[in-house]
Amino acid sequence: MGLMPSAWAQQIKPSPTLEIKSIADSLRLEGKQIYDFGIGEMNPELPVPHLLKTAISEAVMGDATHYSPEAGDPELLDAVHADLRLFGLNYSLSEIVVCPGPKDAFFKICLGMLNPSSHRNRLVAFAPTYESYENLPILLTGKPPIVLQTDAHFLPDPNELADLLNQDDTIALIVLNSPNNPTGTVYPPSLLRELAEIVGKHEQVCVLSDEVYRTVVYDNLEHMSIASYLPHQTLLVGGMSKEVSGTGLRLGFIAGPEATMRVMANVEGNTSSCVNLPTQRGYAHFLRKDTDLRVRHQIRDALRVRRDVLTERFNSLVGEAVWKRPSGAFYFFPDMRNYYGRRTPGGHVLDTDAALALYLIENANVVTVPGSKFQRPGYLRFAYAVSFETINVGIQRLAEALNQLC
Ligand SMILES: Cc1ncc(COP(=O)(O)O)c(C=O)c1O
Repeated sequence: MGLMPSAWAQQIKPSPTLEIKSIADSLRLEGKQIYDFGIGEMNPELPVPHLLKTAISEAVMGDATHYSPEAGDPELLDAVHADLRLFGLNYSLSEIVVCPGPKDAFFKICLGMLNPSSHRNRLVAFAPTYESYENLPILLTGKPPIVLQTDAHFLPDPNELADLLNQDDTIALIVLNSPNNPTGTVYPPSLLRELAEIVGKHEQVCVLSDEVYRTVVYDNLEHMSIASYLPHQTLLVGGMSKEVSGTGLRLGFIAGPEATMRVMANVEGNTSSCVNLPTQRGYAHFLRKDTDLRVRHQIRDALRVRRDVLTERFNSLVGEAVWKRPSGAFYFFPDMRNYYGRRTPGGHVLDTDAALALYLIENANVVTVPGSKFQRPGYLRFAYAVSFETINVGIQRLAEALNQLC
């Protein structure tokens, strides 16, 4: 018998977006021109701001290459503290912990808050839901998340959450994600307030508020954090990946009540030691300069133009998809079920989103992620932080491939 990874570890699925990325990469290696809406990444179309790149290189050249304190470099903690104030949130430095990326922050929160042997160790997520919320609870407790569906506008139903919390005392963590991956939905402040009131009645329940897209909000809407209404029960997650295109730089942070954050700092110190210091110093410098959010809003504006072009293309070319205009993040999530039951030129009947996504890869070189990967079958996710050529030609090709179905 060979090595035996833990039964829980064996249950978790590969990240679907990374899986899709490897399909796109292998097609590219075959020399094909790919229209890739697969992975949620802005690079290379919208690169890391120059200010940040320079500050990171200067930190390397200045030998800032040692360990930082486990909770984070004091310069960065101070800069994150000031930055959170721009969003109306008042955290002290001891209420912030820096981690190697938002996903890692989520992992550390699960490590800290989901005790496998405790009765209260379930996580609730709202579908469509970002992939890791599904996998990490299984890895740590052997239990899948409790998934609640959202409504036709992709918004959680507060009454359903209230009923669940009243009936089920196993719930430890509730994940909220606004602006949302994969739908692009931004939760209205009134809904967040209502959710906060409901969770506030259950003082052992923690909200993990995933706000990695907080600066990417369009149409004069404003990002609001549930932490404004429920500070003592919220762990807020943010980071560099989507605000400044820093997916490969690996820096995220958690902000929350001090006693919990002391535990998080210990978890961080015992697992990652710290986040690489040049990135921390570079980000601190960036945040101190971007106090009017100018650079981050330039990125948002570049994404908004892409959203507009993409939805206009869909409107004129993909008549049978059903969708709503996303108001944040950089994802578009149309309902494609009107194409179910159609036959491809090769004679296959398309009856799942995975079959549709595969048909589009093979026949239009267009890469998308099936909605079932986010627990909402029948939809496709388009990550649109891509070139205008990808949007214009890709949607044209997608429409032509859909028109060939009968
Ligand atoms: C909602 C959400 N949270 C967290 C993450 C994790 O970001 P990273 O993979 O950079 O850690 C992502 C990445 O796509 C995301 O979409």
